[in-house]
Amino acid sequence: MAKMILDCDPGHDDAIAIMLAAGNPSIELLGITTVAGNQTLDKVTRNALSVCTAAGIRVPVARGAAGPLVNHQVVAGDIHGDSGLDGPYLPPASFDLDPRHAVDFIIDTVMSHEPKTVNLVPVGPFTNIALAIRKEPRIVERAKSVVVMGGGYTRGNVTPTGEFNVWADPEAAEIVFRADWDVTMIGLDLTHQALASVELQDRVRAVGGPVSEFVLDVWEFVGSTYRKVFEFSAPPIHDACAVAALIDPSVITVAKADVHVELSGRWTKGMTVTNFQDTPGMHHTGGVAAELTDFRTNVATQLDWSKFGDQIVDAVERLTVKVIA
Ligand code: RIB
Ligand code: CA
Repeated sequence: MAKMILDCDPGHDDAIAIMLAAGNPSIELLGITTVAGNQTLDKVTRNALSVCTAAGIRVPVARGAAGPLVNHQVVAGDIHGDSGLDGPYLPPASFDLDPRHAVDFIIDTVMSHEPKTVNLVPVGPFTNIALAIRKEPRIVERAKSVVVMGGGYTRGNVTPTGEFNVWADPEAAEIVFRADWDVTMIGLDLTHQALASVELQDRVRAVGGPVSEFVLDVWEFVGSTYRKVFEFSAPPIHDACAVAALIDPSVITVAKADVHVELSGRWTKGMTVTNFQDTPGMHHTGGVAAELTDFRTNVATQLDWSKFGDQIVDAVERLTVKVIA
């Protein structure tokens, strides 16, 4: 089993990521940490507890950073609504928060498990992960891997070059990408292949029961906002892609690249500047590209949609069996 901590800002796609991580038998979900992003910290933390309650999930939940390291906080109410998870009924939490700050939970968990066994999966702004590195640098060598939902090498969704998680806290993202650990970047180029299509929604509907209903209500709301704002035919399930890749690395195709986050560009702040190692001619000496040769990051380029969809349906089925038992 792959041990993981999910760091998130629920968020509609975060909610699916929580259910996939908790529902898949090859994942040991050690805990959920929350970070301000799609909505305020209070709202995303409440949402994380509600998702767990709705799906019968009982794991430690610890609240984290209330805003980015440097930027002022920006939320995504136009996509996720005022609650951060508009659409489904959000039940009151059936359990209390872990008393620790998310950063301390991450550090304690990584440092108390065997080296190279705990994976970190941040799917909101990377603020908590960056703070954890600064507070306990040893987590970098001790963690097994970091699979981030964030960035993109051809486009953004908040600006032409900025994807929300990286754009919201670019300094935190640069700290994460510069740390000497195994990072996989699941950016928009990948997650825009992971749409909650009518076919997938029909498969989830066929499962029936409260978990299916919750998921469909999630997709109905975020589908409406993605149609309105981005003219998408179906909503991308961004964050679940990061969990899916940890469950089965064959779900994604990756290429090695140097990823640096732009921190000062007037038009490009928050861009994940991605220099693929296999791009001919970009290693020439003297030019800017010669500095972008830290080819440690695995950048996801292609999604195996069939395997991804099967994982989602399987998780809904497994959680449903537990909830209705
Ligand atoms: O850009 C998509 C990312 O921003 C997703 O993690 C979504 O939940 C929002 O946080
Ligand atoms: Ca998110």
